[in-house]
Amino acid sequence: TGMFTYDPGFLSTAATQSAITYIDGDKGELLYRGYPIEQLAVHCNFLETCYLLLHGDLPDATQKADFTSLVTNHTMVNEQMQFFLRGFRRDAHPMAVLTGLVGALSAFYHDSTDINNPQHREIAAIRLIAKMPTLVAMAYKYGMGQPYMYPHNHLNYAGNFLRMMFGTPCEEYQVKPVLERALDRIFILHADHEQNASTSTVRLCGSSGTNPFAAIAAGVACLWGPAHGGANEAALTMLHDIQAQGGVEKIGEFIRQVKDKNSGVKLMGFGHRVYKNYDPRAKLMQETCNEVLAELGLEKDPLFKLAKALEKIALEDDYFVQRKLYPNVDFYSGIVQRAIGIPVNLFTGIFALARTVGWIAQLNEMIGDPEYKIGRPRQLFTGSTRRDVLPLAERR
Ligand code: CMC
Repeated sequence: TGMFTYDPGFLSTAATQSAITYIDGDKGELLYRGYPIEQLAVHCNFLETCYLLLHGDLPDATQKADFTSLVTNHTMVNEQMQFFLRGFRRDAHPMAVLTGLVGALSAFYHDSTDINNPQHREIAAIRLIAKMPTLVAMAYKYGMGQPYMYPHNHLNYAGNFLRMMFGTPCEEYQVKPVLERALDRIFILHADHEQNASTSTVRLCGSSGTNPFAAIAAGVACLWGPAHGGANEAALTMLHDIQAQGGVEKIGEFIRQVKDKNSGVKLMGFGHRVYKNYDPRAKLMQETCNEVLAELGLEKDPLFKLAKALEKIALEDDYFVQRKLYPNVDFYSGIVQRAIGIPVNLFTGIFALARTVGWIAQLNEMIGDPEYKIGRPRQLFTGSTRRDVLPLAERR
């Protein structure tokens, strides 16, 4: 058994080579295909970022227009999906519904089933990017007991999503540009993050040659957990709890609980496996947070104040300094989403919508690699040695 390296949690094992996303955790730097996230967030929209992740470079004007119109033409989902949706309880968690809906796409699109066929993968990629907003909005509307809104192709990607979320058939929905920009930025910041748990899940799942939609559904399932995509939901719930107990004055007590290892309480939205410095996405998110709250006249939002105070105290506390724990992207994204009107239990769905392109880009990269094999981790066996089955009467 000494043949394998034992590395629980992949702390020091590279599972793949990749040319997509680069993170320098010490510097707090994030590059998609070489471009700094700070520049992409300011100069590009989400669909340009998708093109970049999928194709390796930013589109020129014609490529951008073609890609945008291609995605726009695939925003509807098969009408039967509505009946599938209706099988769920209304009070189901949207991530449970989304995992089901994304997996169900594999039953609807029979010309994009072969993950090893580049044309199949390409059409599956466009469909997924185009349909994720529709599916997330459907999951939301279903829980609300409202009719699902068909996509509107004259709107941009984020604007269309906002309308499908908050529009109703009885009233025309006016998209606020500042909210559209904020949401688009959330999408950009979450689009890829190299070999995180859900991306590694998608790679491992896809390595068996499974249906591409099924591989992405596996990513959605993994993202759901509170240590990963569920952290934005957990971070906002935490802020709500502190607020309910008395707000800013209770921060000291809360931090003491976090530092007590027996409490099981973590400062959600803080810490990262790779970033040992400020998460660059958290900075951009905080900027967006300021912009959105100002536009909506919510500058005095108590949760935002609480978050800023909590951040300040944590950043000055030895416990966090010694362990290099800084805010991650999820610390402020919940506050922005809440201001937009997105319910807490849909935050991870928004993350999944945005990360879909990263999952696909990583899947494509893996399958295009001539050295690619089915992923098959080894183990160090710690169970019983060989023994014989006893007749039932003799077992104890
Ligand atoms: N609050 C309190 N203590 C923490 C926290 C936290 N948020 N994060 C890490 N620590 C402590 C941890 O207890 C450990 O202490 P010690 O050395 O005394 O045992 C030390 O810091 C190192 O942490 P770790 O758990 O070994 O680090 P990891 O790389 O295994 O975990 C993490 C990374 C993100 C799972 C963890 O920091 C965490 O649970 N954070 C809260 C959840 C969160 O915000 N997740 C979002 C991640 S970013 C979005 C995404 O990519 O999904």
